[in-house]
Amino acid sequence: MPAPIRSAVFPVAGRGTRFLPATKASPKEMMPVVDKPLIQYAVEEAVAAGATKLIFVTGSSKRAIEDHFDTDAELERALTESGKTDLLESIRNIVPQGVSCIYIRQGEPLGLGHAVLCARPAVGDEPFFVHLADDLIAGEPPCLKQMADDYQKHGGSIVAVEKVPHENTSSYGIVGLDDDGSQSQRIVSIVEKPQPEDAPSDQAVVGRYLLAPEIFNKLETTGRGAGGEIQLTDAIADLLLDHPVYAFAFKGDRYDCGSKLGYLQATVAYGLAHSEIGPAFRDYLSKLTNT
Ligand code: UTP
Repeated sequence: MPAPIRSAVFPVAGRGTRFLPATKASPKEMMPVVDKPLIQYAVEEAVAAGATKLIFVTGSSKRAIEDHFDTDAELERALTESGKTDLLESIRNIVPQGVSCIYIRQGEPLGLGHAVLCARPAVGDEPFFVHLADDLIAGEPPCLKQMADDYQKHGGSIVAVEKVPHENTSSYGIVGLDDDGSQSQRIVSIVEKPQPEDAPSDQAVVGRYLLAPEIFNKLETTGRGAGGEIQLTDAIADLLLDHPVYAFAFKGDRYDCGSKLGYLQATVAYGLAHSEIGPAFRDYLSKLTNT
């Protein structure tokens, strides 16, 4: 049986241009959905899948993320003194005991593939998760845990996929499949942002990966691809020539929080499901839609 996955890489060094000016001085992964930043949902998902080493690949505005996962003794003292125990609990143990955080700087945002390669010294020679926090996925069990369970069945590398409208293929990495109708299928080809007429299927890669360490050697030689960036998809295309890579159709709802509409949809969905404000928010929305 393959060993459990210990490392999770969070590339958080993108420019986030679709969300400017909000992302001018703060990474988009710090944007909150209701009361938690996207990166905290990401960390919770990785920890639920068994990760104990959290590797953040950060860019120029890294402070906010480091501070978020650090202890804030002064704030904890103030909340203790004012008896706000619920709030105190919400900021304590964001990173559970036994889990460590490592921060690596990506000097220039040369692309997702380059960001993942920057994590190599921290990951070492073992399989690892890659989690893109702007793809928020509500799933039970959480998406990475579903993938970790699938990995125990066949090893190899795994990318999460979702069917997208045919006309939207040029916004995604798209996989060609050895289609046997199962939840986890061998990928035979993968291409970044193909036009609909060139797309091998409508199955799009979303922001969850479980990768064999061989990906790093592939990334070393991956040149600039779509958009002039070093693309993780291109390295995976190289990987699948000599290693098995599976497409995993996860169970859950994905919200593209890197886009304004996806972010608002996530806010509504998580707001409605929130234990404290859900019922009041539902009332508000129904009044709003009935006027
Ligand atoms: P995106 O493709 O969403 O790009 O990156 P972006 O730059 O963040 O956002 P837009 O398109 O300009 O609005 C996917 C993920 O890869 C990370 C991002 O932080 C995001 O989590 N990334 C991207 C890096 O860490 N480094 C890069 O060089 C590029």
